[in-house]
Amino acid sequence: MDQPIILDRLLKHGKKDMVSFHVPGHKNGKIYERYNYKNFTGQWLSLDVTEIPGMDNLHAPEDMIKEAQERAAKFYRADHTFFLVDGTSCGIIAMLMAVANPGDKIIVPRDCHKSVLHGLILGNLIPAYIQPEVCSDTGIPMGILPETVERAFKEHPEAKALVITYPNYYGICSDVQEIAKIVHKYDKILLVDEAHGAHLNLSEALPVPAIEAGADIAVQSTHKTLPAFTQASMLHVKSRKVNVDRLKMMLAMHQSTSPSYLLMASLDMARTIVEGEGKFLMDQLLGHVEHFKKQIAAIGKIKILDQGLVGKLGVKAVDATKLVIDMTELGISGTLLEELLRTKYHIQVEMANMSAIVAVSTIGNDRRDFERFIHALMGIKDGKGIAHRHIEVPLYSYRIPPMRLTPRQSIYMEKVAVDFTNSSGKISGEYLIPYPPGIPLLCPGEEITEEVIQYVQLLKRNGVQIIGIEDKELQKIKIIEF
Ligand SMILES: Cc1ncc(COP(=O)(O)O)c(C=O)c1O
Repeated sequence: MDQPIILDRLLKHGKKDMVSFHVPGHKNGKIYERYNYKNFTGQWLSLDVTEIPGMDNLHAPEDMIKEAQERAAKFYRADHTFFLVDGTSCGIIAMLMAVANPGDKIIVPRDCHKSVLHGLILGNLIPAYIQPEVCSDTGIPMGILPETVERAFKEHPEAKALVITYPNYYGICSDVQEIAKIVHKYDKILLVDEAHGAHLNLSEALPVPAIEAGADIAVQSTHKTLPAFTQASMLHVKSRKVNVDRLKMMLAMHQSTSPSYLLMASLDMARTIVEGEGKFLMDQLLGHVEHFKKQIAAIGKIKILDQGLVGKLGVKAVDATKLVIDMTELGISGTLLEELLRTKYHIQVEMANMSAIVAVSTIGNDRRDFERFIHALMGIKDGKGIAHRHIEVPLYSYRIPPMRLTPRQSIYMEKVAVDFTNSSGKISGEYLIPYPPGIPLLCPGEEITEEVIQYVQLLKRNGVQIIGIEDKELQKIKIIEF
């Protein structure tokens, strides 16, 4: 008999004793030890049940799941809350398909998560893209200006809804209150991908939660920033414009008919912990973050994304629990920093790009985690022999190419590879996504313009990574012959 390879790898990983500045928010389960929830960790296998009598049913809840969802709705000040066992991804697809019919238009920021694109494909919806602002120093996507939203609804009065990411991956928050006012002025629906914001209602010092700011629907990855298990998310509705029965049907279509009770229990447990002690725990966390930032400032030459951005580039607020750290002034790229933290100091951060790392801190982190992080950054700063080629990120500026086929049409059509430099005027069958900022230059179904070809050459010359395309050398691009 061979060995179960996934389990083996997980067990090996568990022994490494990594400090987690990564998701999930429970941080290797440390927070559950503090609350000792009836020692559930010793009973995993007997808790892994399905819809037997007494266990209620996620898709037609009448008993404990209904009650747990109602408690969550009250805590999040929503009219309705739905537990999700297939992540925020399934909630995003369901909400799009709940508010729009096939052929309807949706206003979509170009830096949306791929689940939004999947929702457009599955629902046969037509995106009208808008651009977020981008920081020219770092290449990081910033906020969406309210005036960009206003212009979009004027240009596309038939659009049904706007979907925004709030906060974005870097903790950047647009002015969701102002955006909600504009969306509602045009009698449209505001959908918020709040995957990174399940913790926002734990402190006044954090950006306002989307539901409290006027969103009609917000979906949160509880597993990312609160103590819930991976895949466990919540969808909140606060609106008279949303047909809740249709939403329920869409959720049932996009989620397993055998939802994991461990995931659902973890959502209820996360809500119980934060409703009881969340404010206290968040104050503690914000104190650790403050201390961390002071120490890092004292080390010198390490940049941290901070509240200084507020008021610029569509940024209304910044989530302080996200630590975006840039050591390029010391010749250390984001990818090298991630590697050094992981291999030399056993610290796992969430993400790295050319210039910076993103570390996710949650109420599951304690003071010792931050001390280890500070110690590691000091060590890396003093390290000898670190070489890094400084990469200039060219200004992110180009026109969104014309859409010639819808996202749904594009995925079903045959594709052939042609020379990229000679592809002007053809229809792209692939994405071209420079990283950073992680915003597509080109999506399947869009025309490959000379401007995009020239811009990609510039990005390549500057060493910017381009993802979403099969040929990493970018000699060839797949096109749709139409
Ligand atoms: C902005 C954003 N939206 C949605 C998702 C999807 O969330 P989930 O992993 O809970 O499906 C992610 C995941 O990383 C994300 O970053």
